Amino acid sequence: VTTPPVAFVGAGPGDPELLTVRAVKRIEAAEVVLYDDLAASGPVLGLARARAEKVAVGKRAGRPSPRQDAVSALLVAYARTGRRVVRLKAGDPGVFGRLDEEIAALRAAGLPFEIVPGINAAAAAAAEAGASLTRRVAARRLQFVTGHDVDGRLPGDLRLSALADPGATTAVFMGKATFPALAARLIAEGLPADTPALLAENVGAPDRRLDRGTVAEIAARLAEAPPSGPCVILYGAAMGPGEDA
Ligand SMILES: C[S@@+](CC[C@H](N)C(=O)[O-])C[C@H]1O[C@@H](n2cnc3c(N)ncnc32)[C@H](O)[C@@H]1O
Repeated sequence: VTTPPVAFVGAGPGDPELLTVRAVKRIEAAEVVLYDDLAASGPVLGLARARAEKVAVGKRAGRPSPRQDAVSALLVAYARTGRRVVRLKAGDPGVFGRLDEEIAALRAAGLPFEIVPGINAAAAAAAEAGASLTRRVAARRLQFVTGHDVDGRLPGDLRLSALADPGATTAVFMGKATFPALAARLIAEGLPADTPALLAENVGAPDRRLDRGTVAEIAARLAEAPPSGPCVILYGAAMGPGEDA
């Protein structure tokens, strides 16, 4: 089986030890790496060869992020050169990574690609917290939701009844600014304010921070002092103490 010239590679939460073997192989073989900020720019990027061309396409501090269509066009342009291209994305490429738009651009250009999955921030956060994302009977469903619409606000079309289900484990991505507003709406929708929650910042990095509390407490802490690093918020019965605790 020949390897397609373009690989979307999941960088996981940023710790190279949490990469898949295939991800390491693709990064080491890459001639061009188009990388996002967050997990895709640190030690994981350091696995690429010194002579590989490394192109930052993520949001950089103080600079606006390149438009998604510009990133897709750049990816297509590099892929057409015939060089081995890795599109390095934080976590899993298929979780809130705008993978669909980049795939569509490659397909439209008739360019083959492969996707190498990575460990998403919710899985990494639960592992670092020593928690299971599901719990027999108490948490039968796992859902990922974005707290951030294209304009940075809480998306207006969220299905609140699903998100207020105490029998689910919900992972909120890109939600540190909007979680206080989301929590208020969930509690109004019937989610108990004392539902266990975990706020995980900078998972996979040496300065990672885990903060446990209730949904109401985590919302209050986020409103008071928004953390500077990337955060994922998990809530639901599975985030609470276990039956034996
Ligand atoms: C554009 S999304 C990318 C998600 C990524 N594809 C994944 O699978 O984790 C960025 C969001 O992922 C979460 N995230 C990414 N890296 C993280 C980390 N190291 N620690 C905590 N949350 C992280 C945050 O919610 C952040 O706002």
